[in-house]
Amino acid sequence: MKLFPFAIVALLSLPVAASQVEVLHWWTSGGEAKAVEVLKSEWAEQGNQWNDFAVQGGGGKSAMTVLKSRALAANPPEAAHLKGYELHEWASLGFLRDLSPMAEHLGWYPQLSPMVRDTLSQNGALMAVPTGIHRVNWLWLNRKLFERLGLTPPTDWEHFMTVAEQLKAQGVTPLAIGNEPWQLAVLFETVALGEGGKAFYRKAFLEQDSATLTGPDMVRVLTRFQQLRAYVPEKYAGLKWHQATNLLESGGAAMQIMGDWVKGELSAGNYRPGEDIDCLPSPGSQGLFSYNLDSIAMFKQRDPAQLQAQGELARLLMTPRFQEEFNRVKGSIPALTQPDMSKFDRCAIRSYHDFQLAERDGNLLPSMAEGMAVPTNMRQGIMDVLSSFFNDPKANSEQTAQQLERAMRSTRSGAEQK
Ligand code: GAL
Repeated sequence: MKLFPFAIVALLSLPVAASQVEVLHWWTSGGEAKAVEVLKSEWAEQGNQWNDFAVQGGGGKSAMTVLKSRALAANPPEAAHLKGYELHEWASLGFLRDLSPMAEHLGWYPQLSPMVRDTLSQNGALMAVPTGIHRVNWLWLNRKLFERLGLTPPTDWEHFMTVAEQLKAQGVTPLAIGNEPWQLAVLFETVALGEGGKAFYRKAFLEQDSATLTGPDMVRVLTRFQQLRAYVPEKYAGLKWHQATNLLESGGAAMQIMGDWVKGELSAGNYRPGEDIDCLPSPGSQGLFSYNLDSIAMFKQRDPAQLQAQGELARLLMTPRFQEEFNRVKGSIPALTQPDMSKFDRCAIRSYHDFQLAERDGNLLPSMAEGMAVPTNMRQGIMDVLSSFFNDPKANSEQTAQQLERAMRSTRSGAEQK
């Protein structure tokens, strides 16, 4: 068709449509929201529009419920924070866009470490882009409190108990934690790593070996886990993870066991990670790195404008600049290989260093609590058993080990999804 000159002029003067994306996530605490701001502002810098779909609740349980109802109504957002098994489950149901053509065209694969690529791929296809690597097995402690009371940071669980007793005797809450099942699962997982070790963790959660799940090591891990109930804040019911972090910052509690999203919260409150609040591997887990890989997946779309917008967002997430700025605020480390770590805090530098060593030595472990190791319904089953156990002083470790094994066995059919 021949266009008349005035038509060409009219076409050229049409404003370039800004890309719009609606992104579901649960990054709503102070530190998390600051990290989302980094993403929003880089997106806006490119002239695009961000439609925030934020659902409160650490660990993402409510966000996932809301996402399901949107998907059932055939109206999912363009993008969502989906990770680990949850990501694979959505991909198996056919909801997600295959990003492999983009990855190949834009040369993304060499920038992804084997763990990252493997976690995000389903049958060889890339189902999400990574936003950062969180380490889960951290112990955070309030340095001033430790110095004032002349305590040394615990390096194993036996030592942790001694320190916790000393703190308690001085009227200080030893361990900042709330009773949400996912927070308890993080604590349990670090006890399993530190008391049971790598081989135990693998057998129990990756192989789901019945003898290990009901054996003496599991009984010991459960007993230790339950002993920690004596050291939680008086008002631990309903305490969110970031409120627990605020307790730690203010000296209302001495320690917290949690992934390094804690660090985002510290920086947002002007505390210096690695200085005011120290970061150490959780007791007994030196050399091990339990990971939680955050990622954003794209829901299938027909509209070319939406497809285009998704592509642009994915491209932005894969830039070293975004990865560095976002992760500096979020508390994680960039998920692309060979990041420039020069502007990161001490804890991030330590995390990156430990990640590399763990990768080299086969010590990277997917976090069960964060949905990286077992299917979603199995994780839910584990969390149910653990939280009733933790909250019942009369509960027995042997019986609980049996319950745990049963809960995992009964959900095992879903385990083949990955
Ligand atoms: C995790 C998520 C992290 C984090 C945390 C607390 O599941 O992967 O990015 O922010 O929840 O909300």
